[in-house]
Amino acid sequence: MAFCGLSDKVLIMNSNEIRQRFLDFFAKRGHAILPSASLVPKNDPSVLFNTAGMQPLVPYLMGESHPQGNRLVSAQKCVRTGDIDDVGDSRHLTFFEMLGNWSLGDYFKEDAIKWSFEFLTSKEEGLGLDPSRLYITVFEGDDNAPRDMEAVESWKQYIPEHRIYFLPAKNNWWSPGDNGPCGPDTEMFYDVTPHGLGDLSHEQYVEADDRGDLVEIWNDVFMQYEKKDGVVIGKLAQKNVDTGSGLERITMMVQGKSNVFETDLFAPFMSAIKLASTDYNERSARIVADHARSAMFLIGDGVTPSNKDQGYVLRRLIRRAVMQARNLKLPTRFVSNTVTDYVDLYKNVYSDLDILVISKVISDEEDKFQKTLESGLKEFEKGTDAFTLATTYGFPIELTVELAQEKQQEIDVAGFHEQMKAHQEASRKGAEQKFKGGLANTSEITVKLHTAHHLLLAALQKVLGPEVHQRGSNITEERLRIDFNFDRKMTDEEKKAVEDQVNEWIKADHQVCRREMPRDEAEKIGAEMEFGTKYPDTVSVYFIEDKEGNAVSKEFCGGPHVEHTGDLGTFKIQKEEAVAAGVRRIKATLS
Ligand code: ALA
Repeated sequence: MAFCGLSDKVLIMNSNEIRQRFLDFFAKRGHAILPSASLVPKNDPSVLFNTAGMQPLVPYLMGESHPQGNRLVSAQKCVRTGDIDDVGDSRHLTFFEMLGNWSLGDYFKEDAIKWSFEFLTSKEEGLGLDPSRLYITVFEGDDNAPRDMEAVESWKQYIPEHRIYFLPAKNNWWSPGDNGPCGPDTEMFYDVTPHGLGDLSHEQYVEADDRGDLVEIWNDVFMQYEKKDGVVIGKLAQKNVDTGSGLERITMMVQGKSNVFETDLFAPFMSAIKLASTDYNERSARIVADHARSAMFLIGDGVTPSNKDQGYVLRRLIRRAVMQARNLKLPTRFVSNTVTDYVDLYKNVYSDLDILVISKVISDEEDKFQKTLESGLKEFEKGTDAFTLATTYGFPIELTVELAQEKQQEIDVAGFHEQMKAHQEASRKGAEQKFKGGLANTSEITVKLHTAHHLLLAALQKVLGPEVHQRGSNITEERLRIDFNFDRKMTDEEKKAVEDQVNEWIKADHQVCRREMPRDEAEKIGAEMEFGTKYPDTVSVYFIEDKEGNAVSKEFCGGPHVEHTGDLGTFKIQKEEAVAAGVRRIKATLS
């Protein structure tokens, strides 16, 4: 079903044009365009994925100066899995791109609101949406901050006051988790009903929102406060603006569709499903389409299926997609074969999406799951119970129920879920905490491990050769981990030499300095870059150097780091192992 949401029917843009328009609009207003950061946050063990455009910018929202200036804009890849069970309705997705603009202590409410309104409604430079379909919410005030009359005053220049609604912190206060920058926000909603809702009282507005007649399309957060352990502890040194608008949702508005799966972002994949399915249902098709796209982007950012953290989420997405593909009676390996449609759509924006790697990772997982299904089937025939089938054989309950039905047997599904819940409680707790967010854990030990990580890479280059570069990294409270290219096992002597070198640099108490410089210059002086990462024109480089300024390490990096290596303690390599052909992994600790 389509609705008529455009003030001018001529303005039909595809999603790539919308993304570009957004970036151009803010670039014209002095914002530097940032490339999307990886979905997997660097050096931040407290979150599994970037869930908002602001996440890679937290240090700058907290006051650090950004090398690109104080006006920024980006389209950031995000994964949110909290609503995974809602995927299948008209607008929930596990992957989305968040369009956002930021002011780091520069402009504030008035300009942020003006530009949001202009971008949404301008036919020349923006989306040409119908202003009479826009509804606005603002913060009603509480003990932390007053009712946001400033936002109302700004909005009144564009929107009749009776379409501006006050809501409590539950709706109009935004923070990325229990810790970090936060503040009141103003949200923009668009009316997607065929004939338009017209004027609404507060109560009618809330009801329309509950019915899904209104869709949130943009959030402007006025980040002025800081939260710690869930409590607002005070004001930040600067007043920031952090905005976020889901590309998929605004594409749905602009293209006049009533669900995201009808937009150009999903239409080719959905058509492929329709064509190939001999038992079509819309919900299953949407789940396959959503999960396949998320899997593609996760693999593009280096995630592979596993039983832990990001890898676990990827495995779950692929397996859920396979289950739904089975419902739709799609051919085997449908997901890996059809994901090429998505790569085609995105390849000009995310040029590092490698179709061969993506298809292979997905098809390997599809095959593995197929085997799981086969062995589960055998176990079922032997009479194994649903709980053991699920926990020992990875056999999904949906299938157990289906097979039981064929045999006219009953399965106690509620009892099964009870058992599973108890079973998973302990093992999942950690991972789920991470999904929910909580911000950059820059505890003392992770900061130290981060600096040790730079020293380790420099020592590896010194001992094994300058062609050694980083291929991956991860830091937790317990240890650091580095993946690097090297085609054989390190000898004990080499490991000892690397360890000694790092400890020598620690003892020498070198200083750690951050410098901002043009990317070209940083490349010229041979600063270490992360494999496969796109960098902006101005970058921050961390130097670890002696008193005369001779650098033992220089790396492109956002920090944070200790100021002197003498603070690190004793460095020890715990493990050296292979992770893939030509790639080794070291885990190391400080004590
Ligand atoms: N960070 C804000 C959000 O995610 C803009 O809604």
